[in-house]
Amino acid sequence: MALLEIRNLHLSIARGSELLPVVQGVSFAIEENETLGIVGESGCGKSLTALAIMGLLEGSAVRIAGGSVHFQGRNLLALSQEERRRVMGNQMAMIFQEPMTSLNPVYRVGDQIVEAILQHRSMSRRQAHDRAFELLELVCIPDPMRRIDSFPHQMSGGQRQRVMIAMALACDPKLLIADEPTTALDVTVQKDVLELMCSLQARTGMSIVLISHDLGVISETCDKVAVMYRGRIVEQASTTTLFSNMNHPYTLGLFGSIPATDHDVEWLDAIPGRVPTLDETVSGCAFHPRCFAAKESCRTVDPEAASLSPSHIVRCHFPQGSSS
Ligand SMILES: Nc1ncnc2c1ncn2[C@@H]1O[C@H](COP(=O)(O)OP(=O)(O)O)[C@@H](O)[C@H]1O
Ligand SMILES: [Mg+2]
Repeated sequence: MALLEIRNLHLSIARGSELLPVVQGVSFAIEENETLGIVGESGCGKSLTALAIMGLLEGSAVRIAGGSVHFQGRNLLALSQEERRRVMGNQMAMIFQEPMTSLNPVYRVGDQIVEAILQHRSMSRRQAHDRAFELLELVCIPDPMRRIDSFPHQMSGGQRQRVMIAMALACDPKLLIADEPTTALDVTVQKDVLELMCSLQARTGMSIVLISHDLGVISETCDKVAVMYRGRIVEQASTTTLFSNMNHPYTLGLFGSIPATDHDVEWLDAIPGRVPTLDETVSGCAFHPRCFAAKESCRTVDPEAASLSPSHIVRCHFPQGSSS
């Protein structure tokens, strides 16, 4: 049994009296100790998928319109918020792109980690402080004795992200969802943080969902990859298979594209055009207006997901690769 299995997840956004589909039939599974990468341009529904898994959509404009999220065999979507808390304990944790938005600027990082620990564990403040110190050591913060008393603004972006990882680990999660955890960091620091996540996984056996718009980051870190475009997985395979045999023109475009260094502009112009907005309807395949391989049928018929091999799925009328 997979640790986490998402089946046919549909999410919609309530806008006025309308419900706009934003995630449409996403399915994937993650085993223990496995890392799944979710990759795709900004706005394709990666973060919303993660928030749905975490149960963090309540109170937002986003509605779960269908599907299931099984964790250790239980459908979390069938549980109330209260039941979910009781059943789950704290077995999932999530870290976000910009640690400054999750860290409180007015408290010392050590105290924030202590609070996170005390939320999940019954122990004394003294014991929690010792555990916070251990966690800072675990995430390789230099000079943790001094750093434990720092304020977030006194740390670099990379160190703040390490603090966030330490807080996420406070509850010994079975699943860590990392949503663009290194996007705001310099390339060398990015690499260090990813290596840290991999080494923590080797120690703890946790599973990781790594969300990124950067296929390079995914290729170095993940066991398997789901490529998303406009609310759907358009190609999914093991990392080795995907990188030796890309089939969807969108995957090929992502691979050929060079991430821009300016964080407001995520892509140089490797894939022409832009992702259609939620209220634009596109006939046929949602990618066809931007696709180099599009033919007439792509404009009219939405392709179904098809298996190229048992673990390689592609949603395209004209897959580009050799046979899998
Ligand atoms: N809380 C929200 N209310 C309304 N629209 C949202 C909300 N969150 C995200 N969206 C919209 O849903 C789409 C998918 O968002 P998101 O999952 O954040 O994309 P990604 O993480 O892939 O960049 C985007 O068009 C975004 O503008
Ligand atoms: Mg996002």
